[in-house]
Amino acid sequence: MKCVLAFVGTFLLLGNVSAQNKKEIAIEAKINSVVKKMTLEEKIAMLHGNALFSSEGVKRLGIPELTSDDGPLGVREEIKRFDWNSANWTTDSATFLPNGSAIAATWNPDMANKYGVVLGQESNARKKTVILSPAFNICRMPLNGRTYEYYSEDPYLNAQLAIQSVKGIQSQHVAACVKHFAANNQEVDRGVINTIVDERTLREIYLPAFKASIQEGNAYTIMSAYNKVNGYWCSENDYLLNKILKGEWGFKGAVISDWGGTHHTIEAANNGLDIEMGSSGPYDQWYFAKPLLAAVKAGKVSEKTINEKVHRILWVMYHTSLSENHPEGSIATPAHSKAAYDIASESIVLLKNDAGLLPIKERQVKSIAVIGDNATRTFASGGYGAGVKAKYEVTALAGIKAKFGQTADIKFAQGYKANYLAGNSDEKNAGYDKPNQALIDEAAALAKTTDVAILCIGSNREYESEAHDRKTLELPFGEQALVNAVTAANPNTIIVIMAGAPYDLNEIKKSAHTVVWSWFNGTEAGNALADVLAGVINPSGKLPFTFPVSLHDSPAFALNTYPGENLTTEYKEGILVGYRWYDTKKIDPLYCFGYGLSYTNFAYSGLSTDKKSYKRGDKIAVAVNVKNTGAVAGKETIQLYISKVNSVVLKPEKELKGFKKVMIAAASVAKVALNINVNDLAYYEVKTSKWVVEPGEYKLLAASSSKDIRQVASFKVVN
Ligand code: BGC
Repeated sequence: MKCVLAFVGTFLLLGNVSAQNKKEIAIEAKINSVVKKMTLEEKIAMLHGNALFSSEGVKRLGIPELTSDDGPLGVREEIKRFDWNSANWTTDSATFLPNGSAIAATWNPDMANKYGVVLGQESNARKKTVILSPAFNICRMPLNGRTYEYYSEDPYLNAQLAIQSVKGIQSQHVAACVKHFAANNQEVDRGVINTIVDERTLREIYLPAFKASIQEGNAYTIMSAYNKVNGYWCSENDYLLNKILKGEWGFKGAVISDWGGTHHTIEAANNGLDIEMGSSGPYDQWYFAKPLLAAVKAGKVSEKTINEKVHRILWVMYHTSLSENHPEGSIATPAHSKAAYDIASESIVLLKNDAGLLPIKERQVKSIAVIGDNATRTFASGGYGAGVKAKYEVTALAGIKAKFGQTADIKFAQGYKANYLAGNSDEKNAGYDKPNQALIDEAAALAKTTDVAILCIGSNREYESEAHDRKTLELPFGEQALVNAVTAANPNTIIVIMAGAPYDLNEIKKSAHTVVWSWFNGTEAGNALADVLAGVINPSGKLPFTFPVSLHDSPAFALNTYPGENLTTEYKEGILVGYRWYDTKKIDPLYCFGYGLSYTNFAYSGLSTDKKSYKRGDKIAVAVNVKNTGAVAGKETIQLYISKVNSVVLKPEKELKGFKKVMIAAASVAKVALNINVNDLAYYEVKTSKWVVEPGEYKLLAASSSKDIRQVASFKVVN
């Protein structure tokens, strides 16, 4: 019987594979026949922008424009064809989705997939073929202005989430555009900085999520970054684009430049860029317009190279805008709001609950002071390409009122003013960090009169933004003074921090007992937050990056490599990025990677592997029992770290190689099964250009965070 089933299974599988192959063969034939009919001028017109977010099609052959839009937090509103001003449509209000680090904090690839599906459906409703998302550069440096857009400091976590967000987007026949390739880890000098990064580090830290999104997610497009890597602009980097991306990884889609990130015609054309995008015309003067035509005519760029680029663009189109059964799409639907809510509710991280103040006991709390500018602020717009015209956004105050307003008297005080604009000069922003004593006094006076105070602080979409890095880790807008005053006025203060990157929470960690971390958490942010505060949702978010005690503990600062000298930044810390650095150098972080509490507790036992020794190519089947020892159901993310005993090469103390989020009912035990690929234990050996799995003993750590190791087992790898 088993045999028959296996046979039928294989038959079905082969049937599918060949259907897929047939489709690809048919697409290939169509592309070849179309390319043959095109003139050189028509081909070149497809290789550069003809407006801010499109490039030319060939009408007479039925080839549409390639349309695109930002971006990572939802489909950007329609702007005018030739300038950045709103087109003032009334039909483009979108779902504001939680930001990248929020998605990463869910530690749940299903959430990344949901995010992708919504983005894909909304892109279709707006007739966009390429959505410029997801963005998942490694969070190397805590001050990076785009940390909130990106995911985490860990290549494995980034990869698992990137694969699913790409798959989600592309399930709707919309092309994902994974960005920014590669090593785009700071905004200061981003357009000119030369990132010097050694080969092993590039392969082990900065490239894996891109590789996975291409090879496992099948991403149709990729955006080259603004910066240089090892001396060459990313938009003309033969090594990154031709050798690695298109050669080694077999990428079939199109490389799109970041806006205005192309610098030469011949170098970019020959070194792997397919489409030049940018901001302002005249479009026919761009590197990939008339100058490219001239370069082909002069024999500097071959027509074969041009054909290959056109082939790639058509390949993207036949999987998206020209695909069969192309979905209509939909925008800002209740189902999309539900997805945004689900993601937000899994992303919120409970940092401290020492006094057991949370969840708020609804009936016992008769009055709540909601304090802080962030309680009434919306976070959808701002951040250039990451801004969204949200159909609606539930603020923290609105969410808290909706949840507790029936049983408690809720009053609001602003507490601080967020006097900071991303586009302003430092002079204009001067004084943004000063407390506003009048607002503080008013807030403290209010807090004194209520059962509970909920203090909503953090940053906002002006303070964290593309095009600049933060200057310090400190909480902005004089928030610390407000925290001190409100917590002194009311010991029952819950501090809610909304931000997308690490901040200095030393004082808060010392003096406050209840701290919740939220993000720029989308359309449903306020409802998700209120449900966490009320215990309708048991918090399950875990930090996707380390919060250092001091900026100077972090590798880029400890080694004085940020923002670089003479427009060059050398990644001297090598592979020791994020927790890999803190662990290996024995530096205690303030909050470690993977940290997050729950309203219940989890006890781990019985960690085991299916075998004691493995070979390259094997799968390690890991099992661990996780008991929910509390009285409420909750989700736990089991994190598997690997540590090589006596490695012959430098290895981080441990590295994340597997994780799984599971819902466990109160007082029950979940038998959690996870797999680790032995090949994922490899390091990159530069002298042989090979991934090497070192033989010998490994430790397997089952953990609730990178510093909270619950169970240890060991296994061997043999040659
Ligand atoms: C950003 C990209 C964005 C593009 C188009 C650039 O400044 O770096 O992420 O997609 O603008 O708005």
